[in-house]
Amino acid sequence: MTQPILITGGTGFIGSHTALVLAQAGVPIVILDNLCNSSPKVLDRLARLGVTPLEFVQADIRDAQALDDLFARHAFEGVVHFAGLKAVGESVAQPLRYLDNNVSGTLSLLQAMERAQVRRVVFSSSATVYGDPAVVPIAESAPLTATNPYGRSKLMCEDALRELHSADPRWRIAILRYFNPVGAHESGLLGEAPNGIPNNLMPYITQVALGQRDALQIFGNDYATPDGTGVRDYLHVMDLAQGHLAALKALGASDTPQLLTVNLGTGQGVSVQQMVDTFAHVNGVPIAHRVVARRPGDVAQCLADPSLAKALLNWQTELGLERMCADAWRWQSMNPQGFDTPL
Ligand code: NAD
Ligand code: UFG
Repeated sequence: MTQPILITGGTGFIGSHTALVLAQAGVPIVILDNLCNSSPKVLDRLARLGVTPLEFVQADIRDAQALDDLFARHAFEGVVHFAGLKAVGESVAQPLRYLDNNVSGTLSLLQAMERAQVRRVVFSSSATVYGDPAVVPIAESAPLTATNPYGRSKLMCEDALRELHSADPRWRIAILRYFNPVGAHESGLLGEAPNGIPNNLMPYITQVALGQRDALQIFGNDYATPDGTGVRDYLHVMDLAQGHLAALKALGASDTPQLLTVNLGTGQGVSVQQMVDTFAHVNGVPIAHRVVARRPGDVAQCLADPSLAKALLNWQTELGLERMCADAWRWQSMNPQGFDTPL
């Protein structure tokens, strides 16, 4: 790829790791983000990792003029589209904000791409589109459903992309359904820095490890799983980032279908209790925890069948659970104040 790739949401957790992977693969990149859930200091960290010079545009994907200006300045080869809001609980409280940001935002981006005749896009979808799966591991052909406005927004974007491809097959579209991304870059310079109380398991564990929170609450131990706690398919964010590079390459290849929908996961189930035990063992830091009631809306198990990603993208995960725990802890312990930590 000689022309640049636009990364929307590129200062966020997954976007920043993907920016690094693409840049290190020699792909020129431009990042656009409105910084509603990320720090501009991510750009300094990327520079320290050798991603320099790097063009950053602070703008909202719903700002058509900003997008047109940007597309006029660069002959983008494609877009990796991460920009979106992702907190499930918040989406239930603020459905219109989520639908506007995620759905109107994606439509605005696709329209700008159409105007600029840039028709290659990799879209961040989620295993949430499978709802409460009847069968695990989950294949891409499983029924799709939305159980909250966040999930609805992902499903609506997926539908828009499918409609777009059937209307104009010149579009090359990869819909990537992520399972549970965790971990951080091995340097400890990039990682996940949620605002406020973390919703997700791994950042909560790392904050307990650091002493910023008293104890992890394990949401239920009466699920139909081997130890009763919820089972998920955690994958290392660097493996996930590699999946985006693989998808971009596949979208350029003549022997690959140009509407790709693939799961990105390991296929391995890990329970909450196993995650707590592995983190404590690998890092030598005990994680205080207590079992509380189930979290409303949680499912017992969510696991990918990752075989299609292997077949279509030649992608599979390389980094295991211990590495996820070690890298997440290195990031958190080096950055107790997230990206505001002076390094
Ligand atoms: P993140 O919040 O760290 O990154 C998203 C970025 O998008 C942020 O930097 C935010 O400032 C930016 N953004 C949001 N709305 C924007 C807008 N209207 N215009 C411009 N920028 C905007 O989240 P993440 O974990 O990196 O997730 C990236 C994508 O992957 C999201 O679309 C998310 O829904 C999806 N996803 C995440 C997970 C997960 O567990 N992290 C799982 C499945 C799917
Ligand atoms: N958990 C706890 N305590 C916590 C946080 C989580 O016990 O403090 C448990 C949950 O009950 C679940 C597991 O840890 O069993 C993982 O929870 P996360 O919140 O980290 O992840 P989820 O699988 O619930 O949610 C993720 C994304 C959502 C997405 C969903 C389905 O965060 O955006 O996957 O794809 F919708």
